[in-house]
Amino acid sequence: MKTEIKSINNENLLQAADFLKKGELVGMPTETVYGLAANAFDETAIAKIFKAKGRPQDNPLIVHISKLETLYKLAETVPPLAIRLAEEFCPGSLTMIFKKKEIVPFATSGGLDTVAIRMPDNEGTLNLIEMCGFPLAAPSANISGSPSPTTAQHVFNDMNGKIPLILDGGECRCGVESTVITFTENGVKILRPGAVTAEMLSAFTNVETDKTVFEKVENGTKVISPGVKYKHYSPKADVIIIDTESDKLFSDYVTENSDNNTYALIKGSEKPLNVHTLVFGETAELQAQNLFAQLREIDELGAKKAFVRCPEKKGVGVAVYNRLLRAAAFKIVKL
Ligand code: TXA
Ligand code: MG
Repeated sequence: MKTEIKSINNENLLQAADFLKKGELVGMPTETVYGLAANAFDETAIAKIFKAKGRPQDNPLIVHISKLETLYKLAETVPPLAIRLAEEFCPGSLTMIFKKKEIVPFATSGGLDTVAIRMPDNEGTLNLIEMCGFPLAAPSANISGSPSPTTAQHVFNDMNGKIPLILDGGECRCGVESTVITFTENGVKILRPGAVTAEMLSAFTNVETDKTVFEKVENGTKVISPGVKYKHYSPKADVIIIDTESDKLFSDYVTENSDNNTYALIKGSEKPLNVHTLVFGETAELQAQNLFAQLREIDELGAKKAFVRCPEKKGVGVAVYNRLLRAAAFKIVKL
């Protein structure tokens, strides 16, 4: 199959909707990362997503909607708190988990009786969902285990020959996937941190963070969000997080432990290093935007080892840290 990248205009959106109506897959931009979309109600189309990504069948998909009324069509019960959060954060990087209605196939929910729903903050993609007339199930449009795509080209690199069309919405604004929450007795629990932060949610309710956000999941453990079990965001290079406040300690450590094939992802304030460096930014927002593209880049450059400066562990920095822990397979050096 020939894979085309097309800009977002009315004609190309109509073509994308047409493919989706016929049960094909389309790569689509969101504000977080690119998604690999299919009709959420079409089991045959959903099966194509799992095949194209090489994704384990029990890892559920997020269902993307364009208006809040659709929540009631998909979710058995919608708690009042969900509406308050939706009014504040939708469209945006918040995915909420509900008990699913029968209309959502188990193929989409990974066999669970729940469904994850979000409204992406991308005008073209919201129009696409409207044109389809059905919600779109879409995981990140990468091959399972590799870094999520933040440009149409990244999607092409992973999906070339497997899907007919990728809509090009430019670089994703946010760069890390949405915050995934589930409702608890007295508030919410964060299963995956994103740009809607614990601090932001705390203005509305009690917020817990699931321990799998910072800890490795041992084989055979029962988890709420199946995605956390699987190897994620892994470049081929050996990634090591260096956790220190000090630019000097960071630079000295990297200098002492590097060879020709070593790269460093730095904030930018450090003194020049004697290794190949990529600047991933001073702020957590910039680091979030750059992280996945740079993890892909170090692989293309043939890095064997990559030292990454640890992000600050607050705000969206928590999301960057969570993805990096997985990319580094929890290898972290504290200085
Ligand atoms: O920003 C995003 O969320 C992107 C864009 C494309 O929307 N999508 C995304 O999808 O990151 P994916 O499939 O790569 O990650 C979805 C995560 C997985 O960790 C999955 O296990 C979890 O959400 N998830 C989905 N449905 C769930 C459910 N019913 N219960 C618990 N976790 C769920
Ligand atoms: Mg993913």
